[in-house]
Amino acid sequence: MKEKKFGYGSATVMSQSKEERLEQLKNTLQEWQTIEDASVTHTTAVLETTTSALVRLVMEIMRQDSVMHKKVQQALLDSLAPDSLEKGALGLQPEELDDVWAILEKHDEQEQRAIQMAEHAREACPLAIQRHLLDYLLEDERKHERLVAYLEDFERSLYPDA
Ligand SMILES: [Fe+2]
Repeated sequence: MKEKKFGYGSATVMSQSKEERLEQLKNTLQEWQTIEDASVTHTTAVLETTTSALVRLVMEIMRQDSVMHKKVQQALLDSLAPDSLEKGALGLQPEELDDVWAILEKHDEQEQRAIQMAEHAREACPLAIQRHLLDYLLEDERKHERLVAYLEDFERSLYPDA
C-alpha cells in the first residue's frame, strides 16, 4: 500500500486546535508554492525543446495557471498572517463591492455569452483535438462564471432582501 505522505485525515484534523490547523495549512500552501515554481520551470523547459503547436499551447496554459495558482496561494498565506486574520483580510467591505457591482453584473452577462459560444463551438467542431481545446475553453468559461458567483454570493449575504 502506498504510504500517505500527509496524515491529514479528517479525524486527525478534528482533534487539532485552530492554531495547529492554520499552521498546517500554511505549511501545505508553502510546499504547494514550490511545486508551482517547479511546474513553471518544467513547462518552460518543454517549451524550449518542442516546436509542436499543440504541446506548446498546453505547456503555456499550464505555465500561466501555475503562476496564477502561486499568486492565489500567496494571497491565502498573506490572509493567514496574525494581523491579517485580526483585520479579516480578504473579507470584502460592502462599499468595495458597491463600486464594482454594475461592471460585475455586465461582466456576468458576458461570461454567459462566452459559455454559449464555447458550447456552440464545441458542438459544431468535427475534429477531435480541436474539440479537446474547446472543452478546455468551455470549462474555463464556466470556472469564470463560478468565480463571479462567489462575489455575488457575498453581495447576497450582505443584502439578503435585495
Ligand atoms: Fe497548480
